[in-house]
Amino acid sequence: MVIVLLKLSTAFTQAQNSLQQAYKNKFLIGTALNAPQILEKDSMAMPLIKNEFGAITPENCMKCENIHPAWDTYNFELADKLVTFGNKNNLLVNGHTLIWHSQLAPFVKQIQSKDSLSLFMNNHIQTIASRYDGKIFSWDVVNEALEEDGSLRKSIFLEKLGPDYITESFRLAAKWAPHTELYYNDYNIEQPKKRAGAIALIKSIQAKGLRIDGVGIQGHWRVEKIPLQEIEESILAYSALGLKVMFTELDITVLPNPWDKDAADVNQKATYNALMNPYPNGLPDSVQQKLTNSYAALFKLFVKYSDKISRITFWGVHDKQSWLNGWPIAGRTNYPLVFDRNGKPKPAYYKIIALAKE
Ligand code: G3I
Repeated sequence: MVIVLLKLSTAFTQAQNSLQQAYKNKFLIGTALNAPQILEKDSMAMPLIKNEFGAITPENCMKCENIHPAWDTYNFELADKLVTFGNKNNLLVNGHTLIWHSQLAPFVKQIQSKDSLSLFMNNHIQTIASRYDGKIFSWDVVNEALEEDGSLRKSIFLEKLGPDYITESFRLAAKWAPHTELYYNDYNIEQPKKRAGAIALIKSIQAKGLRIDGVGIQGHWRVEKIPLQEIEESILAYSALGLKVMFTELDITVLPNPWDKDAADVNQKATYNALMNPYPNGLPDSVQQKLTNSYAALFKLFVKYSDKISRITFWGVHDKQSWLNGWPIAGRTNYPLVFDRNGKPKPAYYKIIALAKE
């Protein structure tokens, strides 16, 4: 009896203190799920996903190369499981992503003509967006369409279809997913030049009378180098356009950067060297403290603007699964999230919970 009561009270305390619970009156807290998590095989992550978060984004399974591997072939298995899992566990699903220059299936990269690429885009958006309409909450309709200087990225879509491919993507998404929120998502769009490009892109969608509901600032940042002022300016600038503002792929690297620049372009890689992997056996307390401080500064800002922010999604559940162990250098040990390699909350987690109550 005592054990049962103890268990119940622990469960109660956990629920009260979960990220989602702590922030329920402010904004959603989400996470990204990889394949083992969608298949419920990551036993360490499962209770965290169900207790701590209110939204999920697929880390990979809805990307073109996975969901649409050949012209007439779609592979919905994992994506369907993700959607069922979300609906069963009361987690809002954000679809990621319909139109992205990266992780395209090989057949798309070989398309030569404008008409074929346009047909691909129509088929792709119609088939996928209509399948999940009413079942998922939102779509990252277009992902990473901008260069760092704010101009349109020189992708296959721009090259063959011209700049209108972006408005066309939103037109198709609104047509085939009328009950789903539609977002533009990108990294570094808090930076002034790229932000100006994103604002122009959003205005071009709105000028055509098309629907765009929100903007996702990915949020792949570096410890002690969080661009707080640019983030604050961006929250104000994007919400002034009438959009929901989200931070959609939040993580904070603690490892040295080989190029000393901020990026999230998965195609840029560097080679391993031990100096670039300084904490293979655990994070020193001093760095843990810096990570906590960086998260604290960020969440203070998020709390200040909680009326304008609708979701904060971490890019992964725990440190062990983070893409930052493999990018931009493969084989490193990184610590970018708020749950450690054993699924235990880090000091940053407790700080974030405390900030919600201040
Ligand atoms: O699934 C295959 C597996 O079969 C194979 O054995 C293995 C060998 O390398 O590769 C596996 O695929 C990898 C996949 O992640 C799943 O682990 C791909 O190579 C790898 O490129 C892919 O990386 C993902 C990356 O996007 C590219 O799609 C990362 O997990 C994912 O975190 C990252 O997420 C992106 C966002 O979508 C957009 N914003 C930036 C963010 C970080 O790059």
